Amino acid sequence: MPPLWSWRPRLSKAFTEFGFGTPGVPPPRSDCSNILFMTLEVIVLAAGKGTRMRSALPKVLHRLAGRPLLDHVLRTAALLEPARIHVVCGYGAQAVREQLGESGNINWVEQVEQLGTGHAVSQALPHISPGATILVLYGDVPLVRENTLNTLVTALGSGGLALLTAELSDPTGYGRIVRGDNGDVIAIVEERDASEAERAILEINTGLMAGSAEQFSAWLSEVDNVNRQGEYYLTDVVGCAVRSGVTVSSVSCADPAEINGINSRAELAQAERFFQLRQADSLMSAGLTLYDPARFDLRGQLSFADDCEIDVNVVFEGTVTLGSKVRVGPNCQIIDSELGDGVEVRASSVIEGAKIAANCTIGPFARLRPGTTLATGARVGNFVETKNAALGKDSKASHLAYVGDAQIGQRVNIGAGVITCNYDGANKHQTHIGDDAFIGSNTALVAPVTVGDGATIGAGSAISRDIPPGQLVLTRADQKTRDDWQRPQKKKD
Ligand code: UD1
Ligand code: CA
Repeated sequence: MPPLWSWRPRLSKAFTEFGFGTPGVPPPRSDCSNILFMTLEVIVLAAGKGTRMRSALPKVLHRLAGRPLLDHVLRTAALLEPARIHVVCGYGAQAVREQLGESGNINWVEQVEQLGTGHAVSQALPHISPGATILVLYGDVPLVRENTLNTLVTALGSGGLALLTAELSDPTGYGRIVRGDNGDVIAIVEERDASEAERAILEINTGLMAGSAEQFSAWLSEVDNVNRQGEYYLTDVVGCAVRSGVTVSSVSCADPAEINGINSRAELAQAERFFQLRQADSLMSAGLTLYDPARFDLRGQLSFADDCEIDVNVVFEGTVTLGSKVRVGPNCQIIDSELGDGVEVRASSVIEGAKIAANCTIGPFARLRPGTTLATGARVGNFVETKNAALGKDSKASHLAYVGDAQIGQRVNIGAGVITCNYDGANKHQTHIGDDAFIGSNTALVAPVTVGDGATIGAGSAISRDIPPGQLVLTRADQKTRDDWQRPQKKKD
């Protein structure tokens, strides 16, 4: 679904269509409604420690689907194309900045003492242009959607204050939305400051709100910390707005799961499952078969062609691409890899940093480490480990082998127990194996070493010199039969 609302795209469209001049340079105000030409700046509150996480790690660095909570919020915020994103950090500020510093257009604002949400917003205000519209987000509310934020900012219209609210069957812990007789919002009351009647209200403050920078700064200068928690509450701006006759609009979040804040590890786990199910739903809608969406995890990006099937307990991480008709068996982990058409990954395989061409078969119980490339039709079977290794077309390592730092030709057969001895204790060395070679079971290939095309190595050999094409080589001792030998007998007393 296209976004209901967005700032920049609309701006440049308006400019090009109506010929107002250079995109990005606002036309005279009188020509257009104000909303189109207001700059949006986002403030993300992320200074709290998150005491209930019982963790040394700042709460916003805990991971959801493999990414810090704050990163989710920043990415969603970036979709609105704000002029700037201001992150208010405090507890573990340095760690937070180090982890997320790369995320683009961010102004880090330090709130040395956490004196409340209102105080946190005040710290960011001096960095914001007075004409801007501000959207306040929370670093620990990672599931909110772009559309919801668009709706909230749109509700602001040409001024005032807009709140994102939700109806919860259990509103415990949240600030309650108090409405007057005509239905208008008149206040937000924190649970600890609420009367019995106010606590019975099911409509809650999600904390996310939008308003003009000018008004936020006027209102926040009036807010005090006379309340149960001795904090400067951002929510008190509602009372200020009402007193100054400014409309407070509200948008009710259709799916309250979006606005769940994360305060504990149990809530983090719930959010993870919710996020995973949401991803699973959209992947299924896009044509991916998941045997059980409740047992599917994607921590990154997955792209896929037609008719792929994913069995239970598969975890995808990083960037993974699947061709058509790829089948992934149960209990596999696939990280930063490309799998071609018709690839079959059997149960309990781990694949990382690999490029796998069409119709390869992997596993069960295979481990493909970074730098593995398999050409069409190659097979890597059970208890085979590969690393920095290329297997040519239709080559096979079907059982119990280690293939590291190796270039392997086409139609090569690597027997059970074959090891490339790539490491001499100081350096890594390469093994080259030509087309149609046959490496007998339990061969140790002591690298650097080259095996010629069509060569055969007898089982149990330790190969430390190059092998010419087409030859049979073996290093094992000759077999002897002793006809004078008798098996020892147990002595009788
Ligand atoms: C706040 C709201 C409450 C709302 C709830 C939704 C206030 C006074 N209350 O309560 O109405 O229902 O969120 O989850 O705003 N933070 C800072 N600096 C501070 C204090 C907080 O950056 O000095 C950040 C926290 O890291 C967190 C967010 O602001 O991301 C919310 O703070 P928190 O203490 O969790 O607010 P609540 O008491 O839950
Ligand atoms: Ca909270």
